Amino acid sequence: MPNYQQIINDIHANLKTTKNTGEVADYIPELGKVDGELFGIYLNNVHGNNFEVGDTQVPFSIQSISKVFSLAMAFANQGNALWERVDVEPSGNPFNFLSLLEREKGIPRNPLINSGAIVIADCLVSNLKNPKEDFIQFVRGLAGDDSISFNEQVAESERITGFRNYAIANLLKSFENLANPVEEVLDFYFHQCSIEMTCEQLSNAFFAFANHGVCMRGNQCLTQKQAKRINAIMLTCGFYDEAGEFAFEVGLPGKSGVGGGIVALLPNHYVITTWSPPLNEKGNSYFGMQALEQFTTETKSSIF
Ligand code: DON
Repeated sequence: MPNYQQIINDIHANLKTTKNTGEVADYIPELGKVDGELFGIYLNNVHGNNFEVGDTQVPFSIQSISKVFSLAMAFANQGNALWERVDVEPSGNPFNFLSLLEREKGIPRNPLINSGAIVIADCLVSNLKNPKEDFIQFVRGLAGDDSISFNEQVAESERITGFRNYAIANLLKSFENLANPVEEVLDFYFHQCSIEMTCEQLSNAFFAFANHGVCMRGNQCLTQKQAKRINAIMLTCGFYDEAGEFAFEVGLPGKSGVGGGIVALLPNHYVITTWSPPLNEKGNSYFGMQALEQFTTETKSSIF
């Protein structure tokens, strides 16, 4: 086994000495309050070992990383019927892009861009008895940690500035690809994005995706097929118009969020989570992208 601790220590220390040209997202005002200097890397492997450096125990806004959890839950509930309402093709466009949706008649390109995640939120609002409560319980179950919660201030901050998401939801509604009221679906979506987790909790929650669907606590949280399908979607769609670049540089399935988190995994081996709030121009963590590129190069581990 590579010396993971030494490798992540070195990557963290080296990046800390370089200039971070990224910018902390502030289009959701509450996110702009976070300290841009925070930086953590956490790795757990399927043998039960874990390694960490930096600010791995500070909860942060997971934002779009939550789209993997909502997809997993909706896929588990609905199976293949899901793919009638959302496609599985990369979009090559920013996460909140609108015109593709108009052209493709209200069928989002994939579940990891905003339009797709809003359709998934609609499915969950339709199928769950208590959507927000049931969803947070699902995430807690994946992570094996009952302390994980929504951040109401972040959800509200996004609601009052979420003009593009309202536009997307209304466009979906006009194409009859939203069964529930726009306000109700977006309330769910803003809450899922507001979930706060640490690097450790995220790595634990993604463990099942690296481990054929079996969670940290040893139960089968997802089927093997669901884990396989969702990993494929993460690889091709997890980084919006930087998905090709991430595959090229890092070579792992993964998902980013505008809170500065990135989770990536090597099936059968490990999950690695990085968190550094300043984002590059594509909306992905500037340090996170570099840390992961260095990590897979150094450990000679990627799916390719
Ligand atoms: O809908 C939004 O704009 C945010 N709640 C999530 C965006 C996001 O995290 C994109 N990821 N890089």
